[in-house]
Amino acid sequence: MVKICCIGAGYVGGPTMAVMALKCPEIEVVVVDISEPRINAWNSDRLPIYEPGLEDVVKQCRGKNLFFSTDVEKHVFESDIVFVSVNTPTKTQGLGAGKAADLTYWESAARMIADVSKSSKIVVEKSTVPVRTAEAIEKILTHNSKGIEFQILSNPEFLAEGTAIKDLYNPDRVLIGGRDTAAGQKAIKALRDVYAHWVPVEQIICTNLWSAELSKLAANAFLAQRISSVNAMSALCEATGADVTQVAHAVGTDTRIGPKFLNASVGFGGSCFQKDILNLIYICECNGLPEAANYWKQVVKVNDYQKIRFANRVVSSMFNTVSGKKIAILGFAFKKDTGDTRETPAIDVCNRLVADKAKLSIYDPQVLEEQIRRDLSMARFDWDHPVPLQQIKAEGISEQVNVVSDAYEATKDAHGLCVLTEWDEFKSLDFKKIFDNMQKPAFVFDGRNVVDAVKLREIGFIVYSIGKPLDSWLKDMPAVA
Ligand code: NAD
Ligand code: UDX
Repeated sequence: MVKICCIGAGYVGGPTMAVMALKCPEIEVVVVDISEPRINAWNSDRLPIYEPGLEDVVKQCRGKNLFFSTDVEKHVFESDIVFVSVNTPTKTQGLGAGKAADLTYWESAARMIADVSKSSKIVVEKSTVPVRTAEAIEKILTHNSKGIEFQILSNPEFLAEGTAIKDLYNPDRVLIGGRDTAAGQKAIKALRDVYAHWVPVEQIICTNLWSAELSKLAANAFLAQRISSVNAMSALCEATGADVTQVAHAVGTDTRIGPKFLNASVGFGGSCFQKDILNLIYICECNGLPEAANYWKQVVKVNDYQKIRFANRVVSSMFNTVSGKKIAILGFAFKKDTGDTRETPAIDVCNRLVADKAKLSIYDPQVLEEQIRRDLSMARFDWDHPVPLQQIKAEGISEQVNVVSDAYEATKDAHGLCVLTEWDEFKSLDFKKIFDNMQKPAFVFDGRNVVDAVKLREIGFIVYSIGKPLDSWLKDMPAVA
């Protein structure tokens, strides 16, 4: 019987291992983490992350063949396959700060594996890491191995938050990279056999280590590039009277391009896209490829431009001042069906409006007030090193930001409302009631193109939708910088 241990009980480690345990009832799966509160939450009725379908999977296997523990060393010692799914954030200090991946957590996990192991193991890179990280990990493991054999595999994860369980049940592909040696191929087969419990073998792609590592960065860069492409197009649509939804549909029906991932938005967020592109940029630069680095830099720049363009549109539409005006923010998570706020575009938009002295009333169905206040008080890239709430400077943010528990309260007496996350519940709000309770003129700024702009205009709203033809009111306002 194989025993699996996963180091890191986060957004990837938790759901991935829960599905693995469900699909492989004869395998014992233990997810370990240094964070006691996180493990306690995994063992409780209130899981540490919100993900549709996750609770059901966990309930089916927890205590049978799925366990969550802080006893990291014991479970690593006992296991045959060790997944490492720790965080690999952008470095905030030192060499490569602002771009390179911070491998501190990864390296400490690797050293711990080497320290406690007394039998041979397959060590699986689940975290997204720079290409050739496996080489460094191999060195750490073999230099400290006391004669034990370690095989390193790269098995990057492609799940998206909000659809993690669905993605894990039916992945487009599973990617496994390993050494081209007999032992390397044997390790690949062992991991392939695990996934083959539920993934058709023809969808399990096996490559060399470097291809697997780089494919993960490449996939995220390609996906983010599509969003920046359609977002750059959205600015041109607004300037010319074209409609970005129609353009995206016309472009996406070309089978070479495809229809998915072409929704114009206030910008992409999440813990992966920006971090992984910055990492890719750094790797290109380190390999003497500045032109390739500059190409990818532009994807991040356009994303920043889109977030600021949106916030500027809000201010310019309201006579170029939002000072003292109440503005409702509907949605703070980086996408619907998650409570995750890492790199959410809402942070940039809110900070910009706060800087213009707006009073924000924020509502999100899943994000806690504490999290919102923390996010709005932090410098960029600080999300991975949260400070305790009491250390957060209260001035400014606490006076200007109010976090409320429903959309109607958020919009009451507001001059404008901004939709920043595409939560389904925002589509079915009673906008007539909202309009009646708002200041006039009442503005809607839809950063996700989820509201019915025609209906809202009939009610009396002035509506801005990303990449759509502008109301005459908005056309008459000064151009957005
Ligand atoms: P996360 O921050 O939610 O979870 C990481 C966990 O690792 C934390 O709970 C942390 O306490 C724990 N940890 C750190 N060092 C440890 C150590 N030495 N021993 C034990 N536990 C340790 O991160 P995540 O979102 O799950 O991402 C993990 C990795 O997967 C990252 O490399 C990320 O880029 C990649 N990834 C994330 C997603 C996503 O949607 N979030 C998707 C694909 C890939
Ligand atoms: C992403 C990748 O999709 C996933 O494969 C990888 O494993 C982790 O990173 P995630 O960040 O969870 O997943 O969500 P995703 O659905 O990719 O959305 C990322 C951001 O792009 C969100 O802010 C989303 O709102 C935005 N987005 C997505 C758009 O603005 N337009 C689109 O058409 C699609």
